[in-house]
Amino acid sequence: MKLTTLLTAPLIAISFASAKSPQTYPISNPHAWMPAGPNDFRGPCPMMNTLANHAFLPHDGRNITKANAVAALGNGLGFDADLAELMWEQAVIANPEPNATFFTLDHLNRHNVLEHDASLSRTDAFFGNNHVFNMSIFRTSTYYWTTPILTGAQLANSKIARQLASKAFNPNYTFTANTENFSLGEVAAPFIVFGDMPTVTVNRTFVEFFFVNERLPEELGWKKKDSISLPQIIETSGAIGKAASLLTDGGSAAPHKLRRGDFHAGLAL
Ligand code: HEM
Repeated sequence: MKLTTLLTAPLIAISFASAKSPQTYPISNPHAWMPAGPNDFRGPCPMMNTLANHAFLPHDGRNITKANAVAALGNGLGFDADLAELMWEQAVIANPEPNATFFTLDHLNRHNVLEHDASLSRTDAFFGNNHVFNMSIFRTSTYYWTTPILTGAQLANSKIARQLASKAFNPNYTFTANTENFSLGEVAAPFIVFGDMPTVTVNRTFVEFFFVNERLPEELGWKKKDSISLPQIIETSGAIGKAASLLTDGGSAAPHKLRRGDFHAGLAL
C-alpha cells in the first residue's frame, strides 16, 4: 500500500464518520435535535419536521405509521393516543397509494391535498417551494405579532393577511371551507403546544424559535404538557375562528335581513 493511501485512509474514515455523525444519536439523549440530512424528507409542517429532527418521528421523514405518529405526538408533545390516531387518520390520504398504512413528510408536500396556499411561513406553490421555511414570508406574518405574549387575535390577523396577499397576487389561490378548518387548527397549534389554551396566549420567543429552527424550545424553558386531547383542540381552534372575524360585534351578516334598497344588498334583490 502506498504511503499516501495509508495516510489518507484514516482521514477518509474520520471524515466519513463525521459526515454520518449528525444522523447518529447520543445514547444519553435519543431525542437530541439534529437537522435533516441530505437524504431525509421534510415537509410543510413545522411540527412534523421538528418531531423528525428530534427523532420522535423517524429522522429520515419516512414510514409515518399510525403507531409511529401516536408515539411521536405522545412522547414529544403530550397528545393523547385518541387525538394522535385521529390526526394520523386524517393525514394518511397524503400518501397517494390506496389503503396506505404510512405516509412520509414528502407526501405532505402534495399541493392542495393537505398542503395549501397562504401558509404563515411558506410561499404558495404558484410562487415556488411550498414546503421549505421562508423567512420573508414568515416576516409578513410576524409583522402582526405585536407583543411578547402573542394573542389569538394576533395570529388570526397574520392568517388573514397571508390569505389576502395570496388572494390578491396568486392567480391560482385556492382556499376551501375544508382548508379553512385545517388552517384554523394550524393557527391554534402554537397555543395548544407551547401556550395557555384557556387564555389563548403564548410566549412569542417559543413560537418564533420553533418556526425558524424546527426545534422544540426546551432551552427557552418550554416543557411538554401532561395531556392534550381533542376537546381542547376544538375549543382553541374555535377561539381562533372567532378571532379571525373582521366584524367587531361578534355577529355575522344575515342576508335575509337585508331589504330592497339597502345599498349593499346587491342586484339580486
Ligand atoms: C399528524 C400530525 C400532523 C400532520 C399530518 C400535519 C400536517 C401539516 C401540513 C400538511 C401542513 C401544511 C399546511 C400549509 O400548507 O400551510 C401543516 C402546517 C402546520 N402545522 Fe402541522 N401537522 C400535524 C401536526 C401538527 C402539530 C401537532 C402541530 C403543533 C404545533 C402542528 C403545527 C402546524 C403549524 C403551526 C402549521 C402552519 C405552518 C404555516 O402556516 O407556515 N402540526 N401541518
